[in-house]
Amino acid sequence: MSDESSSEGHGPTVAADGSGDPDSPGLTVVHGASELVVGPDEGVGVETVADAAFAAEDGQVVAVGETEEVLREYPAENADVAVDADGRLVTPGFVDPHTHAIFAGDRTDEFEAKLGGTSYEDILAAGGGILRTVRAVRAADEATLTANLVEHLDVMLAHGTTTVEVKSGYGLSTDAELKLLRAIAAADEAHPVTVVPTFMGAHAVPEDREVEGYTEEVIEEQLPAVADQGIAEFCDVFCERGVFDAEQSRRILAAGLEASLTPKVHADEFADVGATGVAADVGAASADHLLKTDDEGADRLVDGGVTPVLLPATAFALGEEYADARRFLDGGTPVALATDFNPNCYARSMGFVVTLACVGMRATPDEALRGATHTAARAIDRTDGTGTLRPGAPADAVVHDVTAGVEIPYNLDVNTADRVVVDGEVVHE
Ligand code: NIG
Ligand code: FE
Repeated sequence: MSDESSSEGHGPTVAADGSGDPDSPGLTVVHGASELVVGPDEGVGVETVADAAFAAEDGQVVAVGETEEVLREYPAENADVAVDADGRLVTPGFVDPHTHAIFAGDRTDEFEAKLGGTSYEDILAAGGGILRTVRAVRAADEATLTANLVEHLDVMLAHGTTTVEVKSGYGLSTDAELKLLRAIAAADEAHPVTVVPTFMGAHAVPEDREVEGYTEEVIEEQLPAVADQGIAEFCDVFCERGVFDAEQSRRILAAGLEASLTPKVHADEFADVGATGVAADVGAASADHLLKTDDEGADRLVDGGVTPVLLPATAFALGEEYADARRFLDGGTPVALATDFNPNCYARSMGFVVTLACVGMRATPDEALRGATHTAARAIDRTDGTGTLRPGAPADAVVHDVTAGVEIPYNLDVNTADRVVVDGEVVHE
């Protein structure tokens, strides 16, 4: 989120005497937490502090520790924003590093068709799925797309997400992809959630096109236009059976890199077509899905320093087997978690994803919480402490209506997020 969106989204905090920077939240103190998730531990879990607090100045964490200690240096009565967690759990804001949250139209009938046994790939091959959303997005104006995304950001924020990656990819033409990316930028500006934009012109092959010619269009037309506008940070490709093969994906991602867009790969969702090798070779920030990844593919990601992003809500929605999270975790590699929110996977709650990671993929609650915060931030190259509450990190935090981390996945169906702080200001309660 930019500074401007911070003040637009929830208003400036001015010191009581009217002095100071009107955009600066000043001193924030969140205290009285039963348990506070600080950040990653030495292994693949999280470090927590009991009876804890943190203080932030101008939206950046400056101290974290036991409440008594933190309040000694930063008394709550001196704070511009003081939040009494009142014996409840505090975590870093959730980071959702893989969504297709900007779209138009309705695909609820496809949900019913899938329940009846029709496969996702059959729906796509028949011009439904992504291609149907593309038709709706092309017909929608930019303001509508922004408004749709803002509505989804409201829901995400209410569930404790403070940073979210959003992909384009339902435009599949230069104009429509740029329209989506501009709408993403406008939603970021208007909303306290930090939005990280990804260009995904290679999300599907448009109905009237063949894959090779369209690959060239993405490389020769779409990518240069996106780079010229400077409105995307990552370039993602659906490297999949019947979509873009490994060679086409490699070319698109290499061209993206030339245009300063960091690669990401949709890998092994339905079939293993070598996407993990592509991700490792191009130095992707992440490889996502990994439902059909074998040991060799997993090793290539680990050796290549590519963050695995697991999307258990997608497997849940498709009725597929979950990704093998333990293969990574048992080898000492943390995994990131994301919602994959899109019309095929209508999930906006990272708490739900944490539950699925534990119940479906046998992650421990600590491993899942790390996946939804610090490792998720790594998957979108956030190295400023996002996903932690360590000094220097953005003061993005959630007070949950429970007392311990384990209760986030334990609550199968209830949103535990109560109060949400972004950049040191309370933006949801
Ligand atoms: O990550 N697999 C490709 N993209 C999305 C699905 C998008 C859609 O069906 O609209 C995914 O699952
Ligand atoms: Fe996806």
